Amino acid sequence: MLRSLIHHIVAIPFVYNCAQFVLGGRIMQKKFEDLCDGLQFGDGWVLDYAGGTGRSRPFLDKAKRYLLMDIDMVKIEGYKTKFDQDYACLCDVTAPPIQSNSADIIFARNLLHHLTTEQMDEMFEAIPRLLKSNGTLVITEPLANSSRWIGRLLWRYDRGDYPKTIDMILERIKRSHTISHIEECTVLHDYLIVVAKPNLRI
Ligand SMILES: C[S@@+](CC[C@H](N)C(=O)[O-])C[C@H]1O[C@@H](n2cnc3c(N)ncnc32)[C@H](O)[C@@H]1O
Repeated sequence: MLRSLIHHIVAIPFVYNCAQFVLGGRIMQKKFEDLCDGLQFGDGWVLDYAGGTGRSRPFLDKAKRYLLMDIDMVKIEGYKTKFDQDYACLCDVTAPPIQSNSADIIFARNLLHHLTTEQMDEMFEAIPRLLKSNGTLVITEPLANSSRWIGRLLWRYDRGDYPKTIDMILERIKRSHTISHIEECTVLHDYLIVVAKPNLRI
């Protein structure tokens, strides 16, 4: 009851953005901004998987073709109020309606805890098809960590029902990608940041 009330309130785009700010999102946002500064942007698509209200968009102004993808229409509408010239796609990241070999960069920020293990597998299977051969995958994700009480409390009320450990995530990424950067940090939750390239297709 309390959990579903919190979910309804936090679904409002303005409240969602405030919640991210309070929960340490500002620190992670700065890390994300620094990471984006070092990325190669080409002519292909920059896909913001589960982009929500578009919190990543301001740091991706080097993207020539940016597409926010999300399964939640309320979030997309919140995004379009700020970035009405941009493209957005109401879709599921496990079945992205995107042309093969067309993306320079795919971002998946704070998404994996919304996906079952099977859905995560489907998502990672599709990514090497969408990315160009020199394309880049960027994942940032809060981790399941039972040793921190604050982390446990936050997970109890989080909308994502499938928090994952660092081992689960890295093992899955490595099956189809080569990792070039791994970083862990703690801001209430423990977070993982990974940058990877798709393995060569034969
Ligand atoms: C915690 S929010 C993260 C939003 C944004 N990436 C950020 O960091 O602010 C998770 C987002 O994943 C979206 N989502 C969950 N499952 C999805 C799926 N299967 N396909 C696309 N989006 C999904 C939700 O609608 C929500 O906007």
